[in-house]
This record gives sequence, structure tokens and C-alpha cells, in this order.
Amino acid sequence: MKPLHYHRFDPSACAYPRPRVPVLPPLTPAQLGRRRPQPATPRQHYARGRYALAAAYALAGVGPRGALLAPAYHCRTMLDPAIALGAEIALYPLTPDLHADLDGLQRTAAACSGRPAALLLTHYFGLPREIDAVARWCHAHGIRLIEDCSHALPGTGADAACGRAALGTRGHWAVSSPYKFFPCPDGGWLWANEGAALPARLPRRATAGAELRGLRAAWSQWRSPVPAPDPAAIEAERAALAARSAPSGRDWEECSDQPSADYRAADAGRAGLAVSRWIEQHSRLEPLVAQRRARYRQWQQAVAGLPGVSALLPHLPEGVAPYMFPLRVFEPARLFDPLKRMGLPIWRWDDMAASECPVARDYRQGVFHLPCHQALSDAQMAWMTALLQAVARRG
Ligand SMILES: Cc1ncc(COP(=O)(O)O)c(C=O)c1O
Repeated sequence: MKPLHYHRFDPSACAYPRPRVPVLPPLTPAQLGRRRPQPATPRQHYARGRYALAAAYALAGVGPRGALLAPAYHCRTMLDPAIALGAEIALYPLTPDLHADLDGLQRTAAACSGRPAALLLTHYFGLPREIDAVARWCHAHGIRLIEDCSHALPGTGADAACGRAALGTRGHWAVSSPYKFFPCPDGGWLWANEGAALPARLPRRATAGAELRGLRAAWSQWRSPVPAPDPAAIEAERAALAARSAPSGRDWEECSDQPSADYRAADAGRAGLAVSRWIEQHSRLEPLVAQRRARYRQWQQAVAGLPGVSALLPHLPEGVAPYMFPLRVFEPARLFDPLKRMGLPIWRWDDMAASECPVARDYRQGVFHLPCHQALSDAQMAWMTALLQAVARRG
């Protein structure tokens, strides 16, 4: 297996404060209701989506004799399980709206030193990406398709109603990360389609101690909702920070043939917590979808006409629940630092394997992932959008 070359960003010198608004939904009483009917498709519950991916990759034959075709715009945990299996990884290019570039995919597969065993297709930010042509291409080449629904909420039925195949039904296997949508401490689902098998061995149950710690983590959020920061303070704080010099983050590169620190081999065969499954099963779906859609649109309105930024994926298809709002930022070095210093919750994939894909190169630092979850209050949303507007206009 060839080591991969990574572009990395180390913000540790900046000592950014903790985000003032939670990136993922904390548990609040309003989100819970009656137990919902569960999907009929057999599924296996892992501790995270990355470990569900590990099981899917292994079933697909990814390993020393089977390469993985993965999208060039990615986080490390999408690649980690293939690296742990000793596989070659070839990164295929994407179009600016994050669909697979089919010509580029063909070239990537041809350049692979080994036989590609599987292709990972990601529905970024919860928005269904084109899958039919990719599925046909995989079928023609004898490559197994793994559908990455880690950012998506499959099973709402809304996607099928729009005339598309429902999310998570086209791949031989599909994985999701329920903890990104529901206020549960962990979780990663794996299911199979088209007659593909699930692992014969069930993930091993979490210990009672782990269940207790998960319960405690959920309960501590329940009792202490995060207050919204003061919107009136934004301008004074921004000006004070702009006047002060501060250390900046460090861009660097490295070669590695090891999984990242976010992948723990010991957790690979472990089941997700029962407490997580309970929270997921008792979460109210309709308000969750409606609120996420409303927050996504609110971000869209807030960034319309703002200098230096735009909504990366402005079309939110009917009924789809977005995971985060992706913001395209044309001069990330100007905005990232002041926003992080003021506590805006921003995720971005600035730790990424190098590829020939110009989109992935630009988006590594130039796409900010901003929360749009159901537990955001109006006041938190108003503070986040006002902060982004103030910094985008003044820097
Ligand atoms: C697109 C995508 N796929 C897969 C994963 C792995 O999911 P998890 O965090 O549940 O391990 C991530 C991680 O955030 C991701 O962003």
C-alpha cells in the first residue's frame, strides 16, 4: 500500500475558544416523542459511521488486493478504514457541486495500480448527489458501490417522493451517522441492498460502563441548554480582535500510511450504545426535518449578497434534511481566523489527502460547514448570522 500525501492545517497556536453554539444537536426535551416505526431493512449498529464503513469495505473486498475509489473532497475518517485494511486509495475528482466527475473517475480507475474493489459515493451535507450513472459505471466494471449517507437522513421517504431512488438504496452497502442528526452520543448504521450480505458477525455490545457514560453525556446537555451569545457585543469584539495581533495556524504536509488519530481499531467491531438507539428511535422526525430546512434557508438568506462568500449548494430538494450549511468562502484566510476567535462553530476538512482535483484543493479550506440543526434557537441563529455578516463585510 502506497502512503498518501496529506495537506494539513494546525490551528493549535491560535488557541481558539470553544464554539459558543453547539455544532451538533444537544439533547433537549422538545426533540423527543413516541417511539417511531423502525426501518424494515436489516441493519447493524456500530459506534460510528467510520466503523460501519470498515465493515462495508471489508465485505466489498477492499484490502491489499482491492483498491478503494474515494471522493477527492473527504474527511480522514472516510479513508481511515480502507487504510486500516491495507488498501490502496485512489481519489476521484468532483464537479464544483460535488457530483462525481465521470470522466475523471474513469481516469482515476485506469491509473490505479491494483484492481478497484469498491467506490465510495458521498451525499455531501445531506443533499442527494447523482448516483445512477455512477451505479451503472460500477456495475459495468464489477466494482461494488458503497453509499455514504453519513451526512444524510435516509428513510424519511421524502427523497423517493421527488422521483429519485431513496437515499441509501442504490449502493450494495450504505452507511449513516445518526449522531449527526439525532441528539445521541454515538452511532453508525450499516445496511445492504441488492442481495449484498451484512457481516456474519454482529458488532460486540458496548459495556455497561460505556452505556452509563453515554447516558450521563446526554443528560448533562439536557440540564444545561447553551445560552445564545450577546449579538450587541459583536462589533466591539470584532474591532478589538482586529486591532490585536495573534499567532496564525500552520499549513503543513506529511506522508502517512496510517489511519488518523480519529480511527480507533479497538472500536471497529463495537456496537453503538443502546442509549443512542433509544434516543434515535424516540426523536420526532417531522420537526427535525422542518427546522433543519428552515435554518438552511436562513443561512442562505443571510449570505446572499455578502462579499467573498456564497451558498455552495443553493438548491435544497423538497423534503431533504440537510446536515450542515456549506458556505463557499473565496478568501478563507481572511474570514476563518476572526470567526473562530469569536467562537463561531465552523467545521472544515482542512486535513485532506492530496489529489489532482482542483475542487477538493479549493474546498479544503474554502468551504466552511456551519450548523443548521433542529436544536438551534432563534437567538443562536441570529448571533451566528450577524457575526458572519459583520466579519465578511469588515474582516
Ligand atoms: C462524509 C462523511 N462520511 C463518513 C464519515 C464517518 O462518519 P462518522 O463520524 O460517523 O464516523 C464522516 C465523518 O464525519 C463524513 O463526514
